[in-house]
Amino acid sequence: MKLKIRPLGVLLAPLMLGLCASSYAAQTPKSDLDVLMHKFEQGKYSKKGADGCLMCHKKNDKVMALFDGVHGNTQQGPMAGLQCEACHGPQGKHKGKNEPMIAFGDESALDASMQNSVCLACHQDGEQSQWHNSLHDMEEVSCVSCHEVHVAQDPILDKRTQNDTCQSCHQSQAGAAHKRSAHPIASDQMQCTSCHNPHGDIGNAALKQPVLNDNCYQCHADKRGPFLWEHAPVVEDCSICHDAHGSVNDNLLKTRVPMLCKECHSEDGHPSTIPGTNQSIQVAGQGCLNCHTQIHGSNSPKGRALQF
Ligand code: HEC
Ligand code: HEC
Ligand code: HEC
Ligand code: HEC
Ligand code: HEC
Ligand code: HEC
Ligand code: HEC
Ligand code: HEC
Ligand code: HEC
Ligand code: HEC
Repeated sequence: MKLKIRPLGVLLAPLMLGLCASSYAAQTPKSDLDVLMHKFEQGKYSKKGADGCLMCHKKNDKVMALFDGVHGNTQQGPMAGLQCEACHGPQGKHKGKNEPMIAFGDESALDASMQNSVCLACHQDGEQSQWHNSLHDMEEVSCVSCHEVHVAQDPILDKRTQNDTCQSCHQSQAGAAHKRSAHPIASDQMQCTSCHNPHGDIGNAALKQPVLNDNCYQCHADKRGPFLWEHAPVVEDCSICHDAHGSVNDNLLKTRVPMLCKECHSEDGHPSTIPGTNQSIQVAGQGCLNCHTQIHGSNSPKGRALQF
């Protein structure tokens, strides 16, 4: 991973100036946000670094767990630089509740995008590069609604528990995963992140591959053409017929056959008997797939009608 580390003050500076100019001087008593912004302006970082903080915080197991995880590494990242203050901001006169530090989560004095700017100061490349175009960013979801840093191993990075976090907010997709036909998400053999980038991506719905079908081809390579005889909607978009999150119909189909087929095909012009026999198609007709078995495309020279 490439890291571009910028001092936090620089990143928050534009926010700071705006907020200070408009509200810092005017408000009495000062809000926690005002105090934090003022501390940034003064750049009052502690000379003792983490040691100073730990004088008071070392009995908190949660705090100390930082050193079991990647952010506690003293060779790179926060602890190699401003240490605790790289994330929590300058200590100033903080000795407890008298003066706040930057805190994370819903109770924080900072809104989600300000909290996120702390993390983005070091994480803005690669997977996170589209964060500012993402719906998660726009809807004020914070990095720490998914991530934890004072832990040995961040639970969201564990594939066995990752879906639970997504599903805690996305209930309709969570429900769909338990329908009669679904990808193996309920059993955690597949993740929401098999198709989506949680940090946003350039495609529709934050899909990892910008073209919808390319996501499906990652695992269903047999459906990727080109075929001698293509079926137009398949080439266009798998989600015309399938609901990737789950369906009450077999094969993740949005609508059952033959209704699905009849949304686009009328029976006018369809041969009324099977060529070479006198068997009526009307009888067998409801099971379109009995004859048109190659619904995703055919490579047989005789496959124009997707039969072979
Ligand atoms: C990489 C950023 C980062 C660094 C570095 C960091 N913290 Fe935190 N800290 C957080 C986040 C995020 C939380 C919210 C809880 C969580 O996600 O783990 C937090 C929570 C806390 C809390 C509240 C804990 C509680 O009981 O709720 C304290 C106190 C704290 N940090 C102190 C420290 C101290 C002391 C250091 C340095 C030894 C430090 N932090 C280093 C990001 C950081
Ligand atoms: C003189 C003791 C003392 C020192 C030094 C100290 N803290 Fe605190 N800190 C406290 C107390 C007391 C609280 C409030 C109770 C608690 O949350 O543990 C607190 C709370 C916090 C919180 C939670 C804030 C919140 O709103 O939930 C964070 C984060 C924090 N300290 C970080 C730091 C960091 C980082 C340093 C070093 C730069 C530091 N503290 C130095 C005593 C101290
Ligand atoms: C001062 C720089 C810095 C800041 C600020 C920072 N990180 Fe990191 N982060 C790092 C470094 C360094 C690594 C380790 C990278 C590696 O090993 O490739 C890392 C790794 C991670 C990882 C991967 C963890 C793993 O186990 O592989 C996650 C997730 C992460 N950070 C989230 C956050 C979040 C959330 C915040 C804000 C609360 C944050 N970071 C703030 C420097 C930072
Ligand atoms: C909606 C949940 C969610 C949010 C919000 C979120 N992440 Fe992540 N993050 C994940 C998941 C899930 C992974 C693991 C990705 C995977 O398995 O494909 C991850 C992986 C990471 C990694 C390690 C992988 C890498 O890129 O090297 C970093 C660093 C990271 N996130 C930083 C951030 C930062 C910074 C923010 C806020 C700007 C953030 N994340 C917001 C869910 C989230
Ligand atoms: C804290 C709540 C929360 C969590 C946790 C969360 N999301 Fe979201 N997500 C939202 C909100 C809010 C939206 C915006 C609109 C909506 O409700 O769909 C959203 C939108 C999305 C979208 C649509 C994006 C678009 O551009 O159309 C996707 C995809 C998504 N989330 C995937 C995930 C995945 C994957 C995870 C787990 C790694 C996750 N979310 C975790 C709250 C959350
Ligand atoms: C097999 C791939 C795949 C998986 C796995 C997957 N999604 Fe999606 N998701 C999609 C596709 C494709 C779309 C776009 C749907 C469309 O345009 O019809 C989408 C759209 C979304 C949207 C935008 C709203 C919508 O329904 O159009 C959200 C939110 C979302 N997914 C959340 C999730 C969550 C949460 C999970 C895990 C429980 C998940 N997805 C698992 C493929 C997937
Ligand atoms: C990460 C791999 C992966 C991706 C990406 C993926 N699938 Fe799947 N798909 C699977 C697995 C695994 C199964 C279950 C196979 C089984 O149980 O026999 C499956 C099953 C299916 C089924 C049959 C469901 C059933 O009830 O039998 C359909 C239809 C399907 N996928 C469509 C899609 C579509 C459409 C996309 C793209 C939006 C997609 N898949 C993306 C792995 C994937
Ligand atoms: C015109 C509607 C339609 C479109 C578009 C479509 N499918 Fe299907 N798909 C079906 C039908 C119908 C079935 C059930 C086939 C059966 O029962 O023999 C099916 C079954 C499947 C299955 C499970 C059985 C198998 O053949 O492996 C997978 C996987 C699948 N489709 C993937 C895809 C992918 C990937 C795309 C996009 C490239 C796609 N489908 C586009 C109609 C469609
Ligand atoms: C979203 C619309 C749509 C759906 C749904 C759909 N098709 Fe098609 N189908 C088309 C289009 C468009 C063509 C190309 C027609 C052309 O080239 O004249 C086509 C072509 C065909 C052909 C080949 C006809 C020829 O003359 O080349 C067959 C057979 C066929 N579809 C059967 C089915 C069956 C069976 C289903 C249901 C499982 C189905 N289709 C669902 C749109 C659809
Ligand atoms: C008993 C077998 C059989 C069944 C069942 C069947 N078809 Fe056909 N279908 C054929 C044959 C044979 C052709 C003509 C092939 C040719 O002309 O080479 C054909 C042609 C088509 C064509 C090509 C254009 C046209 O209309 O002439 C479409 C589209 C089509 N069928 C859709 C459907 C749909 C939709 C269903 C279900 C409602 C269905 N078929 C059920 C055997 C069947």
